[in-house]
Amino acid sequence: MANRQPIQNQLLEYVKQHEDDDLETSTTNSGNPLINKDASQTIGPKGFMVMQDYRFFDQLQHFDRERIPERVVHAKGAGAFGYFRVTHDITNYSAAKVFSSIGYTTKIAVRFSQVTFEMGSQDTVRDLRGFAVKFYTDDGIWDLVGNNTPIFFIQDGILFPDNIHILKRNPVTHVRDWDMFFDFFSKRPESIHQLVWFYGDRGIPDGYRHMNGYGSNTFSLINASGELFYCKFHYKTNQGIRNLDAQKAREIAGNDPDYMLRDLYNAIASGNYPSWSFYIQIMTIEQAKTSPFNPFDVTKVWPHGSYPLIPVGQLVLDKNPTNYFAEVEQLSFNPAHFIPGIDASPDKVLQSRLFAYGDTSRYRLGTNNQQLPVNAPKRFKNFSRDGKSTFDSQGGAPNYHPNSFGGPETDPRAVALSPRLRYAGDVGFYDTGFEDNFTQARALYQRVFDDAARERCIQNIVYDLKNASAFIQQRQVGVFSQVDESFGRRVQEELGKYQPLHAII
Ligand code: NDP
Ligand code: HEM
Repeated sequence: MANRQPIQNQLLEYVKQHEDDDLETSTTNSGNPLINKDASQTIGPKGFMVMQDYRFFDQLQHFDRERIPERVVHAKGAGAFGYFRVTHDITNYSAAKVFSSIGYTTKIAVRFSQVTFEMGSQDTVRDLRGFAVKFYTDDGIWDLVGNNTPIFFIQDGILFPDNIHILKRNPVTHVRDWDMFFDFFSKRPESIHQLVWFYGDRGIPDGYRHMNGYGSNTFSLINASGELFYCKFHYKTNQGIRNLDAQKAREIAGNDPDYMLRDLYNAIASGNYPSWSFYIQIMTIEQAKTSPFNPFDVTKVWPHGSYPLIPVGQLVLDKNPTNYFAEVEQLSFNPAHFIPGIDASPDKVLQSRLFAYGDTSRYRLGTNNQQLPVNAPKRFKNFSRDGKSTFDSQGGAPNYHPNSFGGPETDPRAVALSPRLRYAGDVGFYDTGFEDNFTQARALYQRVFDDAARERCIQNIVYDLKNASAFIQQRQVGVFSQVDESFGRRVQEELGKYQPLHAII
């Protein structure tokens, strides 16, 4: 097996592990012996197939149903398993068991993903990357469904379908459409912070091991005294940030479309376990009231200077999936899966997400998706029963409440740790997308990027923006100019090297 990557040796490894096993006989899916795996039942060697060939139908019907709907976003991904270990005490902020003591360890599943394109797409396209972590805690599942960026394109979940439509294929031509893309972004300048990040160096990470993760949305933590703190989650790579140059990424897209999947699998299979340092940022309720920016707006970060990172623990991945479909494709995350001590905040995008993921999981995987081994909590006790693919009917316990036959009952600890907040306001439809969009985008462009990074960002933008119609280019250049006058000017200059695209219809 010399000179081969671990990912190439899966079948050879299988043989090695089973060399002492007796040869097994093959069966149908219901365990009935197969008679001839490689021939269907026919009337003579040249005749019709017979209807009674149950074994043939058993194989074909299963094959016909092998694919389920792919995720509507984040379809292409890689998964792995490992653990989260606490290294620092944060019990003053949260009473969640997952943080309960130094050294406390919780099993995790992680799925990394590319947001925009289909399951078969190339790993190295410019895109945000998903970094979703499932914690199998003693209080049930906690899903921290983050990305590799601390921000997002939009401030309100009602725009999510539009935002995703313009990233994906034009519904008529079925190719990416740069008019759609820049038309939307230039009309929704709340996207500018994420757009500058997207066209910056981190827009194409050099593999999933070399990028950070961020919970991005604002969450709440509740401590044992019932005090609530707002919180951001960060998980920083211990492998070091590494990005791909745009040209190199295009070459890899052609030569090795599964570059990031391969890298992760090989690293774990070789015992080179990737890890991330896990941090929180904390904002008190009082600080949130006086913050100069909206702390519940996911297009904003909480500046490190005002809200320093507080170390919490380590995420380590030390196990590859044993089957991609069962353990990665069927892995389903839901930001609404909180545990006592961790909860939501008024962040509108988070609030929207609390609905969307459970809804899509039921569509993609079915009513009982949470009973699939990879999604299942350590225990669940409730009054739901039945539905497609029920695995666990809770041993005959009563399916109604209240009852006289032994519970289960409400956990007083969960009640004590549930957030108690008071909000008031006039019910209405508030479009906040035009407030204070440029301060943080400007900080990223002017202060975090150096000259060379700014130039790469401009070249990356022009590579795509040159394909949009002239009037859309102008509007988008206007948005870049509001970040920094020279930014807009440089994009315009570079666009000038290409023939302007006027409407041809
Ligand atoms: P800081 O100078 O303290 O933080 C800048 C942060 O920018 C770094 O810590 C790093 O985040 C991140 N960064 C470095 N290079 C790049 C890059 N090429 N592309 C994207 N991010 C990069 O300043 P502030 O906290 O005041 O933030 C300034 C700007 O930095 C923000 O407007 C935001 O755009 C960006 N940023 C801020 C983060 C935050 O949570 N405060 C997180 C990430 C980006 P990291 O340490 O997470 O690797
Ligand atoms: C996947 C909706 C914003 C991170 C998904 C999926 C939906 C969705 C429907 C598919 C899930 C599945 O099929 O299992 C939304 C909506 C959003 C939003 C409505 C905004 C209103 C975000 C943000 C982040 C994020 C801000 C990051 C912080 C992810 C990740 C996945 C995902 C990582 C893939 C999960 C996996 O690996 O299975 N999203 N999303 N999304 N989303 Fe979002």
